[in-house]
Amino acid sequence: MVAPVIVALDFPNRASALALVAQLGEACSSYKIGMQLLTAEGPSVVRALVSAGHSVFLDLKLHEIPNSVASAISAAGHLGVHMVSVHASAGSAVLRAASRAASAFPDLKVLALTVITSLTDSDLPEIGLQPSVRAQVERLARLAISCGCHGVVASAHEATYLASMLPKGTLIVTPGIQLAGDGASDQARVASPEMAKAAGATHIIIGRSITNSPDPSLAFAAAKAAMADTGAGNPLT
Ligand code: C5P
Repeated sequence: MVAPVIVALDFPNRASALALVAQLGEACSSYKIGMQLLTAEGPSVVRALVSAGHSVFLDLKLHEIPNSVASAISAAGHLGVHMVSVHASAGSAVLRAASRAASAFPDLKVLALTVITSLTDSDLPEIGLQPSVRAQVERLARLAISCGCHGVVASAHEATYLASMLPKGTLIVTPGIQLAGDGASDQARVASPEMAKAAGATHIIIGRSITNSPDPSLAFAAAKAAMADTGAGNPLT
């Protein structure tokens, strides 16, 4: 099972990633591996985490032809990861192929990316999309869930309407999280863990707020406390 707080291992190499994992220890069970670490180190770093009993979100952000996406999802399933990401904007044939491929792996969830959290309304026209971000997120989230995806990746600012609009049980995974006291970053649509939880996020992804913290364990504990089930949140958390 993937814990409500997923730590993004955005590191240049295996040694620094595994050093943080060791530092967080048993308190943290769920990690995200994305393009930087995967490209630098290959799947062995994924295997290392999985065989240590951790849950891994392999953030592949797939956007390819259906056969290639299905093959990559299947490879992720064989690695033993629990979550994998695909771009909803790749279209229904791709999303259906991804869901079908994941169905061979009961613990593997397919998450659809809607609009990356560094984009705002004014960035949409240059990529051929009409504002607003909200309209695009709603459209893409509906498409993804209708094609069998288990959840969506969206900012906390979208989580409120996604939680009420999507079927109960849909995973809402929210990056763009900053802890109190953090400086500015390249994320445009940011929120605190408390805001994300209140908005209906089932999981949050936190990278630099923890990895760059002078005390990563303390930062992680603050995020975990904020996401702890108060009895009022989404049943998936
Ligand atoms: O360091 P920070 O907490 O901003 O890291 C956020 C992580 O979430 C990064 O690994 C980034 O790739 C990922 N992510 C995101 N927006 C999405 C999907 C994933 O920021 N829509």
